[in-house]
Amino acid sequence: MGILIRPARLWCRSVIMACMAITLVYCQGQPAETDPEIQNGSSSGGIAVDTSPETIAAGQDLYMENGCGVCHGRDGSGKGPLAHTIEPPPRDYRDPSAYKQGTSVAEIADTIAAGVGGASSKMPQYLHLSESERTLIAQYIVSLQHQ
Ligand code: HEC
Repeated sequence: MGILIRPARLWCRSVIMACMAITLVYCQGQPAETDPEIQNGSSSGGIAVDTSPETIAAGQDLYMENGCGVCHGRDGSGKGPLAHTIEPPPRDYRDPSAYKQGTSVAEIADTIAAGVGGASSKMPQYLHLSESERTLIAQYIVSLQHQ
Protein backbone atom coordinates (compact mmCIF):
# COMPACT_ATOMS: atom_id res chain seq x y z
CA MET A 1 0.00 0.00 0.00
CA GLY A 2 2.77 2.38 1.01
CA ILE A 3 4.53 1.72 -2.27
CA LEU A 4 1.38 2.64 -4.16
CA ILE A 5 0.72 5.87 -2.30
CA ARG A 6 4.22 7.26 -2.48
CA PRO A 7 4.51 7.93 -6.22
CA ALA A 8 1.11 9.64 -6.09
CA ARG A 9 2.33 11.88 -3.27
CA LEU A 10 5.51 12.66 -5.12
CA TRP A 11 3.53 13.53 -8.21
CA CYS A 12 1.27 15.77 -6.16
CA ARG A 13 4.26 17.48 -4.65
CA SER A 14 5.84 18.18 -8.03
CA VAL A 15 2.57 19.64 -9.32
CA ILE A 16 2.46 21.95 -6.31
CA MET A 17 6.11 22.89 -6.86
CA ALA A 18 5.43 23.63 -10.53
CA CYS A 19 2.47 25.83 -9.60
CA MET A 20 4.60 27.70 -7.11
CA ALA A 21 7.33 28.19 -9.68
CA ILE A 22 4.85 29.54 -12.23
CA THR A 23 3.33 31.89 -9.65
CA LEU A 24 6.80 33.10 -8.72
CA VAL A 25 7.69 33.84 -12.32
CA TYR A 26 4.46 35.76 -12.90
CA CYS A 27 4.83 37.73 -9.68
CA GLN A 28 8.18 39.01 -10.80
CA GLY A 29 6.68 41.57 -13.13
CA GLN A 30 6.84 41.23 -16.89
CA PRO A 31 8.68 38.02 -17.69
CA ALA A 32 7.70 38.14 -21.37
CA GLU A 33 9.83 41.24 -21.83
CA THR A 34 12.73 40.42 -19.59
CA ASP A 35 13.35 36.71 -19.94
CA PRO A 36 14.10 35.47 -23.45
CA GLU A 37 13.94 31.85 -22.20
CA ILE A 38 10.20 32.17 -21.65
CA GLN A 39 9.46 33.63 -25.08
CA ASN A 40 11.47 31.35 -27.29
CA GLY A 41 9.80 28.03 -26.61
CA SER A 42 8.38 25.96 -29.44
CA SER A 43 4.93 27.19 -28.53
CA SER A 44 4.90 30.78 -27.48
CA GLY A 45 2.22 32.96 -26.01
CA GLY A 46 -0.60 30.55 -26.76
CA ILE A 47 -0.04 30.23 -30.53
CA ALA A 48 2.30 27.45 -31.65
CA VAL A 49 5.16 28.32 -33.98
CA ASP A 50 4.38 26.99 -37.47
CA THR A 51 7.38 26.67 -39.76
CA SER A 52 5.60 24.99 -42.68
CA PRO A 53 6.63 26.50 -46.05
CA GLU A 54 2.96 27.31 -46.86
CA THR A 55 2.50 29.36 -43.67
CA ILE A 56 5.79 31.22 -44.07
CA ALA A 57 5.05 31.99 -47.75
CA ALA A 58 1.51 33.22 -46.93
CA GLY A 59 2.88 35.36 -44.09
CA GLN A 60 5.59 36.83 -46.31
CA ASP A 61 3.01 37.69 -49.01
CA LEU A 62 0.85 39.54 -46.46
CA TYR A 63 3.95 41.25 -45.07
CA MET A 64 4.87 42.62 -48.49
CA GLU A 65 1.27 43.42 -49.55
CA ASN A 66 0.77 45.52 -46.44
CA GLY A 67 3.94 47.52 -46.91
CA CYS A 68 5.81 46.29 -43.83
CA GLY A 69 8.94 45.94 -45.98
CA VAL A 70 8.94 49.66 -46.76
CA CYS A 71 10.15 50.26 -43.22
CA HIS A 72 11.35 46.86 -42.01
CA GLY A 73 12.94 45.67 -45.24
CA ARG A 74 12.04 42.67 -47.36
CA ASP A 75 14.41 40.56 -45.24
CA GLY A 76 13.24 41.98 -41.88
CA SER A 77 16.60 43.62 -41.24
CA GLY A 78 14.93 46.92 -40.36
CA LYS A 79 16.53 48.58 -43.37
CA GLY A 80 13.62 49.23 -45.72
CA PRO A 81 13.67 52.22 -48.10
CA LEU A 82 11.96 54.48 -45.53
CA ALA A 83 13.91 53.29 -42.48
CA HIS A 84 16.55 56.02 -42.45
CA THR A 85 13.84 58.68 -42.06
CA ILE A 86 12.35 57.11 -38.90
CA GLU A 87 13.34 57.55 -35.24
CA PRO A 88 13.27 55.27 -33.26
CA PRO A 89 14.14 53.06 -36.26
CA PRO A 90 12.12 50.00 -37.34
CA ARG A 91 13.08 46.72 -35.64
CA ASP A 92 15.60 44.28 -36.98
CA TYR A 93 13.33 41.24 -36.47
CA ARG A 94 16.29 38.88 -36.51
CA ASP A 95 17.46 40.15 -33.12
CA PRO A 96 15.05 38.96 -30.37
CA SER A 97 16.49 41.44 -27.86
CA ALA A 98 15.31 44.34 -30.03
CA TYR A 99 11.59 43.79 -29.41
CA LYS A 100 9.80 45.97 -26.85
CA GLN A 101 6.47 44.12 -26.84
CA GLY A 102 7.52 40.47 -27.00
CA THR A 103 8.86 38.04 -29.59
CA SER A 104 6.21 35.31 -29.58
CA VAL A 105 3.71 34.74 -32.41
CA ALA A 106 0.80 35.96 -30.23
CA GLU A 107 2.67 39.03 -29.01
CA ILE A 108 3.74 40.04 -32.52
CA ALA A 109 0.19 39.49 -33.82
CA ASP A 110 -0.97 41.88 -31.05
CA THR A 111 1.73 44.42 -31.96
CA ILE A 112 0.52 44.43 -35.57
CA ALA A 113 -3.00 45.36 -34.42
CA ALA A 114 -1.97 47.83 -31.73
CA GLY A 115 1.19 49.34 -33.18
CA VAL A 116 3.87 50.38 -30.70
CA GLY A 117 2.72 52.70 -27.93
CA GLY A 118 4.22 56.08 -27.30
CA ALA A 119 3.70 59.32 -29.17
CA SER A 120 7.11 59.19 -30.81
CA SER A 121 6.66 55.71 -32.29
CA LYS A 122 6.13 55.37 -36.03
CA MET A 123 4.97 51.74 -35.97
CA PRO A 124 1.40 51.94 -37.35
CA GLN A 125 -1.69 50.01 -36.25
CA TYR A 126 -3.01 47.53 -38.80
CA LEU A 127 -6.62 47.30 -37.69
CA HIS A 128 -7.91 46.14 -41.08
CA LEU A 129 -6.05 42.83 -40.82
CA SER A 130 -7.91 39.83 -39.39
CA GLU A 131 -6.47 37.86 -36.51
CA SER A 132 -5.52 34.99 -38.82
CA GLU A 133 -3.74 37.38 -41.21
CA ARG A 134 -1.83 38.95 -38.31
CA THR A 135 -0.92 35.49 -37.06
CA LEU A 136 0.44 34.49 -40.48
CA ILE A 137 2.58 37.64 -40.64
CA ALA A 138 3.77 36.98 -37.08
CA GLN A 139 4.75 33.40 -38.06
CA TYR A 140 6.81 34.85 -40.89
CA ILE A 141 8.51 37.34 -38.54
CA VAL A 142 9.26 34.61 -35.97
CA SER A 143 10.83 32.55 -38.79
CA LEU A 144 13.29 35.42 -39.32
CA GLN A 145 14.40 35.52 -35.67
CA HIS A 146 17.92 34.23 -34.93
CA GLN A 147 18.90 34.36 -38.62
C1 HEC B 1 6.06 53.50 -41.34
C2 HEC B 1 7.06 52.50 -41.06
C3 HEC B 1 6.59 51.14 -40.58
C4 HEC B 1 5.73 50.27 -41.20
C5 HEC B 1 5.02 50.46 -42.54
C6 HEC B 1 5.66 49.10 -40.36
N1 HEC B 1 6.42 49.27 -39.25
FE1 HEC B 1 6.73 47.91 -37.74
N2 HEC B 1 7.88 49.24 -36.76
C7 HEC B 1 8.21 50.50 -37.22
C8 HEC B 1 9.01 51.18 -36.22
C9 HEC B 1 9.56 52.59 -36.34
C10 HEC B 1 9.15 50.27 -35.15
C11 HEC B 1 9.87 50.53 -33.83
C12 HEC B 1 8.86 51.23 -32.93
C13 HEC B 1 9.43 51.79 -31.68
O1 HEC B 1 10.44 51.32 -31.19
O2 HEC B 1 8.79 52.72 -31.17
C14 HEC B 1 8.45 49.06 -35.52
C15 HEC B 1 8.35 47.93 -34.75
C16 HEC B 1 7.76 46.75 -35.14
C17 HEC B 1 7.78 45.53 -34.40
C18 HEC B 1 8.48 45.30 -33.08
C19 HEC B 1 7.63 45.79 -31.94
C20 HEC B 1 8.34 45.59 -30.62
O3 HEC B 1 7.92 44.71 -29.86
O4 HEC B 1 9.30 46.29 -30.36
C21 HEC B 1 7.08 44.61 -35.11
C22 HEC B 1 6.83 43.15 -34.73
C23 HEC B 1 6.62 45.26 -36.30
N3 HEC B 1 7.06 46.56 -36.30
C24 HEC B 1 5.89 44.65 -37.28
C25 HEC B 1 5.40 45.29 -38.42
C26 HEC B 1 4.55 44.65 -39.40
C27 HEC B 1 4.14 43.20 -39.38
C28 HEC B 1 4.24 45.60 -40.34
C29 HEC B 1 3.31 45.48 -41.53
C30 HEC B 1 1.99 44.90 -41.26
C31 HEC B 1 4.93 46.81 -39.94
N4 HEC B 1 5.61 46.59 -38.77
C32 HEC B 1 4.90 48.00 -40.64
C33 HEC B 1 7.86 51.06 -38.42
C34 HEC B 1 7.00 50.50 -39.34
